[in-house]
Amino acid sequence: MDLTLWQYQFRIIMLGDSTVGKSSMLKRYTEDLFLESINQTVGVDFYVHFLEVERGVRVKLQFWDTAGQERFRSVTRSYYRNSVGGLLVFDITSRASFDHVTEWHSEVCERVQPHKVLFVLVGHKSDREAEGERAVSREEAERLAGHLGMPYMEASAKTGQNVRESFELLTRRVYQGLLSGEVELQEGWDGVKCAAPQALQLQRASVSRPSTAPEKKKKCCQ
Ligand code: GTP
Ligand code: MG
Repeated sequence: MDLTLWQYQFRIIMLGDSTVGKSSMLKRYTEDLFLESINQTVGVDFYVHFLEVERGVRVKLQFWDTAGQERFRSVTRSYYRNSVGGLLVFDITSRASFDHVTEWHSEVCERVQPHKVLFVLVGHKSDREAEGERAVSREEAERLAGHLGMPYMEASAKTGQNVRESFELLTRRVYQGLLSGEVELQEGWDGVKCAAPQALQLQRASVSRPSTAPEKKKKCCQ
């Protein structure tokens, strides 16, 4: 199968304070690499990854990796509106990064209206728990995630623990949102795109689609 063929493109934004490890999570996910001395992000970086969310349904994930530093905020804010999913990251060893989660969340929600961004909250650098460095308990983080209406995962780009799982959870959440109608495709909004019909025809020739494909999906891509 040609790996560049896809049925959906989801735009996903990485959010959270500087140094919580947003770029490191993406590097681990897309290249299976971890760098102790990774550069701070300047403005926004781009990453791409493909994921099959169900048999024959390939999603192109386009990641916008924003700089956490305040001085880049005017640039990074302009990327909120065309995102369908957000990975909201804090560092479990940094109380301040956890305290700022609510601010990140409300800033995004205000700016994307009438659209909606679906989130997953990630407590990152879980490997540092072993060093006794944890400053935010799992229970507290789970409570906040529940309050904000999003799932919570603990991950580490250093060990690789739960990195793929966090991105896949978010992708599946968006996909389910699309099927249920929670996420709506609208003119002039690029959070979700559907593949060109000719690409789909090629794909259909090699992959049989489930016969129970929901109506929403058919409307979008056929
Ligand atoms: P900005 O680009 O400034 O917003 O920062 P960022 O959130 O992208 O953080 P980045 O990925 O640049 O990581 C910051 C530092 O944390 C680097 O020194 C990384 O090596 C380190 N780091 C990232 N992930 C982990 C992790 O899972 N565990 C540990 N122990 N360190 C990590
Ligand atoms: Mg970065």
